[in-house]
Order: sequence, then structure tokens, then C-alpha cells
Amino acid sequence: MAQRIAVIPGDGIGKEVMPEGVRILEAAARRFAIDLELEAFDFASCDYYLEHGQMLPDDWFETLEGFDAIYYGAVGWPETVPDHVSLWGSLLQFRRRFDQYINLRPCRLLPGIQSPLAGREPGDIDFYVVRENTEGEYSSVGGKMFEGTEREIVIQETVMTRHGTDRVLKFAYELARSRPRKKLTSATKSNGIAITMPWWDERVAAMGAHYPEVAVDQFHIDILTANFVMHPDWFDVVVASNLFGDILSDLGPACTGTIGVAPSANINPEGTFPSLFEPVHGSAPDIAGKGIANPIGQIWSGAMLLEHLGHREAADAVVSAFEAVLRDGDKRVLTPDVGGTGTTEALGRAIASRL
Ligand code: NAI
Ligand code: MG
Repeated sequence: MAQRIAVIPGDGIGKEVMPEGVRILEAAARRFAIDLELEAFDFASCDYYLEHGQMLPDDWFETLEGFDAIYYGAVGWPETVPDHVSLWGSLLQFRRRFDQYINLRPCRLLPGIQSPLAGREPGDIDFYVVRENTEGEYSSVGGKMFEGTEREIVIQETVMTRHGTDRVLKFAYELARSRPRKKLTSATKSNGIAITMPWWDERVAAMGAHYPEVAVDQFHIDILTANFVMHPDWFDVVVASNLFGDILSDLGPACTGTIGVAPSANINPEGTFPSLFEPVHGSAPDIAGKGIANPIGQIWSGAMLLEHLGHREAADAVVSAFEAVLRDGDKRVLTPDVGGTGTTEALGRAIASRL
């Protein structure tokens, strides 16, 4: 039976990099005889909002629920729709209603890309950040009192549940076990945040009992961010609460060069609902319409999608293909963000023909 993928380009360069992402998915499907069925949707974009007054149609949940995965470009066009409206009205709805409780970001230095960290070569940086994506510090529990007076009070509670914590830890341990180094690092702050974070550490240890082959260490978040920069080679899989993970999952890819190549996945591991795969970057209004956006973030996200759907070999082939093109370093093919003079389409085509 075909695996069905909902394709949602969104806004700005999302509409430019998505065709290249689709080109690669189709090429991979041909080469590895994978039965994929792609269906495109124009909602979850600011154009849709301007026409319909909302980011999503009323029946979006029923429309997307039956798909095996969602392949997303980028959302946002602040000139016409405020960012909190476009983001809350689309991506954040998907993450919540489809219980995509894992946010997964690979941080890997690719060949031909200059790391902002001096002296780092491909192979020095190769780890994953696993972020809890549904609870923790990003809760709606709290409130304000005596607003606008001298007594003004504002409270926002961190909410950590055993269910929510254990499931992200399980995912992270499983991922660590599947990798050669089998190493897990936990982001904590149990010295300063003295209730939830010591408890988080306990849950890390308790889950670790099921994974004796995985080596575990932990750092307080402040020194951990420093170590991302000083010693990126220390890390294999890093697991973190929602807030800490948010920070680490931007810092990690930043250590590997251009934002244009970084991919991400929002995963519902049980497959009860579709998972969502998207580049880390946004809609980049400053370069939209010029045809020069780097499509590798979109393409690498597509590789994560293939892997999630059980096509490991095809996923690896896609990654090898763009690594080979980057290693070649043909300036006419590479986009300006990685030192070339090429276009989105030229780079996409070069990767497709390599594949
Ligand atoms: P951005 O990621 O769109 O752009 C940041 C900078 O990186 C810009 O200078 C841009 O030209 C460059 N850049 C981004 N992607 C690139 C690519 N593929 N190739 C070459 N250069 C690239 O972030 P910004 O400017 O803060 O946000 C723009 C819009 O995107 C806003 O509406 C924001 O809300 C939205 N956004 C959406 C995200 C999503 O859909 N997940 C994530 C981040 C921002
Ligand atoms: Mg963020």
C-alpha cells in the first residue's frame, strides 16, 4: 500500500525549496522502489490566510490525520500576517493535535561547509538534539494579578509529567542505543531549579536502567551551552526539556554553519498521528523570490521523513548525495549561502542526478 505524504510548502522560500524536496523524494522513491503518494495543500500559509481569514480550513485535522507524514516548508510573512498568528494558526496546531512530542534535530558538520567554530572538520560534530515538544516550561498554567499596580504578580508554572518525561527519555535512549557511540547527555539545571530538575535527573537514571549499554552523562544547561561551542565532539545524543531543548536545538545547528542546511522532525513515535518534517529555517522574506535559497534543509528533512517511514537505505542515499555535491564544491551549483553562485533549482537538480 502506498505511503501518503501531505506536502505543504507554506510561505516565502518554502515555496521555492519544496519543489526540490519533492524532486529528491520522487527520485529516491524511483531508485528504491518505494510506493509514495504525494498530495499538495495550499493551507498553513499566509496567502491562504489572506483569502480565508484563517490559516487552516475547519476540517484540517480530518484531512491530514490519515497521512503517513507531513512534509512542510516554512510559514510566515510578517508584512501581511503577524508571526504569532501564522505560527500558532498552523505549525503549533499540528504539533499539539498530532501529539508530536519529539523534536529531533541532527547537528552535523557537512563537507564543504565552514563551521563558525575554528578548526572543526566534518566528523568532529555529529550529534542529535532531542527536545521535549509538548510540556515543561512552555505551559499555559499561571496568571497575572494586580496588573498595572505596584503589587503586580506574574506566575507561569513548569509542568512536567512522568508520562511526558519518560516518553521523551525513552526515545532518546533508543536513539542513543542505535548509534555507534551509544552515548546520552541530559540537559539539567538541578542546582538552581530545585524541584523539577532533580526529578528530571531521577527519571533519566530510572530510564537508563533499561539501557545498560548506553553511557549517560549530564550537564547543567549553562555549561552545556558552553560545551556545545568548546567541545562539540563530546556529544552523541542530547536530551532536554522543552525550553532547554529549544535553545540547544538552535545552538547545535548554528555550530555547523549555514541555517539553510539544517533539518528537523516533529515526531509522534507511536504513529498514531502523522509526524512532520521541515527545515529549521523560516520563510526568509529577505531572499524570497530570488531563487537562491539553499534547498538542503528541506531535502535533509525529506531524508528524515524517509527514515521515519522505514526507508533507512533511501534516507542514507539522499544524505550521501547532497554530501557528495557539497564535497565537489562546484560554485556554479552551490547557492550563495555556501559560497556559490547557483540557484535553488540547480542545486536540487545536481543532488537528484547524483542520487
Ligand atoms: P529565517 O530562517 O526565515 O531567515 C533567517 C536568515 O537566514 C535570513 O537572512 C535568511 O535569508 C537566511 N536563510 C534562511 N533560510 C535560508 C536558506 N534555505 N538558504 C539561504 N539562506 C537562508 O528567519 P526569520 O527571518 O527570523 O523569519 C522569517 C519568517 O519565517 C518569519 O515570519 C518567521 O516567523 C518565520 N519562521 C518560520 C519557521 C518555520 O516555519 N518553522 C522557523 C523560523 C522562522
Ligand atoms: Mg526555537
